[in-house]
Amino acid sequence: MRLKDKVALITGAANGIGLTAAELFAKEGAKVAMADFNAEIGEKRAGELREKGYEVTFFQVNVTDRSSVDKMVGKVRDTYGNIGVLINNAGITRDAMLSKMSVEDFRAVMDVNLTGVFHCTQAVLPSMIENGKGKIINTSSVSGIYGNVGQTNYAASKAGVVGMTKTWAKELGRKGINVNAVAPGFIETGMTAVVPEKIIDQMKQMIPLARLGKPEDIANAYLFLASDESNYINGTVLQVDGGIMM
Ligand code: CAA
Ligand code: NAI
Repeated sequence: MRLKDKVALITGAANGIGLTAAELFAKEGAKVAMADFNAEIGEKRAGELREKGYEVTFFQVNVTDRSSVDKMVGKVRDTYGNIGVLINNAGITRDAMLSKMSVEDFRAVMDVNLTGVFHCTQAVLPSMIENGKGKIINTSSVSGIYGNVGQTNYAASKAGVVGMTKTWAKELGRKGINVNAVAPGFIETGMTAVVPEKIIDQMKQMIPLARLGKPEDIANAYLFLASDESNYINGTVLQVDGGIMM
């Protein structure tokens, strides 16, 4: 088992990539704290995983709200002890062309995708410093590296995640903490289900592997970066996108 007895906190774990990662991490022996805004779905999914015999607990959180994050991290530590792995996976889109994007939608996306990652990482840091080691994995996107029509807010937030990843890799490396990011391409989840079919077809034509990604494709990358197999990888942005952009 690649994560035996590690305590992993995954945000955005009620759905999509985060949920798939929660199951994979639990299968690999981790104690998994599933954190999400959506308590109804999150509790249900965590219950289903426990029925399969996995060690998981759901914690409600709004990553944009610092006191909510601090409370959630406190409860995770009370339940499982110090957190060894943090997957900053919660994220949202509010797409619009620049000419039509509201300031509210710009701020909402920055709050979840960028400030949320800052909040969660700062709150978890004392756990990792106490342990003398840790793995932080942030979720960027191809949109953050190459830009994407209709995603001014989202691309800016995901590019910001790359900047924070590299900064923290430099700051925290000497404390035994590895910080890396995964940059997924287009993955089959609720997030891409709302994208117009015409645009999905255009994207598919650009992917050398000729398919959208599956949540498992990203969960496997998170697992590698959370496991001891990646102990000398720090400050990298791993693109998992079927080769859509090179
Ligand atoms: N490339 C080039 N041109 C594009 C384009 C693209 N990908 N998408 C739209 N356009 C063009 C349209 O052809 C149109 O051109 P004309 O004015 O000449 O006709 C113009 O831009 C406006 O497009 P719409 O008519 O679609 O404008 P709208 O205001 O109705 O909708 C939109 C805008 C909401 C951004 C819509 O186009 C849309 O949903 N696009 C998808 C955005 C996208 O790819 N989101 C990814 C979500 S998944 C995700 O974010 C995960 C991840 O990390 C990758
Ligand atoms: P999803 O929409 O299926 O799941 C996102 C989860 O985040 C949801 O359960 C939602 O409740 C939660 N969430 C949203 N706001 C929150 C908040 N304020 N506090 C706590 N939780 C909150 O999305 P998906 O596709 O699983 O995305 C996961 C991550 O991967 C996101 O960061 C996304 O930007 C990123 N990503 C996704 C891609 C895709 O194509 N699906 C591509 C590239 C990156």
